[in-house]
Amino acid sequence: MSTEAARWDERYREHPGLFGAPPDWICARLAELPPGTHVLDVGAGEGRVSLAAARLGHIVTAVDLSAVAVERLRDAAAAEGLSIETHVADAVAWLHEARTRSWNVALLQSMSTGASVSDRALFALLRQRCDGLIAEVIERVIPADLVRESWPDAHIERAIAKLPVLRITG
Ligand SMILES: C[S@@+](CC[C@H](N)C(=O)[O-])C[C@H]1O[C@@H](n2cnc3c(N)ncnc32)[C@H](O)[C@@H]1O
Repeated sequence: MSTEAARWDERYREHPGLFGAPPDWICARLAELPPGTHVLDVGAGEGRVSLAAARLGHIVTAVDLSAVAVERLRDAAAAEGLSIETHVADAVAWLHEARTRSWNVALLQSMSTGASVSDRALFALLRQRCDGLIAEVIERVIPADLVRESWPDAHIERAIAKLPVLRITG
């Protein structure tokens, strides 16, 4: 197990429900998509956004490094009778493995691989494999220019509610 995976496992173990409810603006965007949209939730954590998407009738694939978080996601989905495909994996490695797969939309909520080189690789892979992107990321972690390298037509709103956050849609 990587150090990063162990770190996230520890955080989730100590704080179940770590990130609370899914962000309203992402749920609103998901609700605009036709049911049956194929959604890839990258760094899905305990699945607050994946679950919201599945409740809307979307077909969700969730990938996260943390086995603890993914286990919670699976339990929550089962409790609601929702079907969500889950993978405990590094997103970049998993996208290389699942090289024939593609999705309508990639979701990234507060997610970074923790290294700009991997974040670049991740956005490039998502651009190849997903038609659209809905993301909220911390600007000091993933700068707008890093996103634009792969996704030049992304609509980027900076400084949401005065926080250094990028809201990206594309
Ligand atoms: C801030 S949390 C956000 C979780 C979830 N998107 C949410 O909004 O509740 C970031 C997540 O990214 C995951 N993560 C970090 N690096 C990753 C990687 N390289 N591949 C897959 N998941 C990763 C962590 O395990 C963690 O669950």
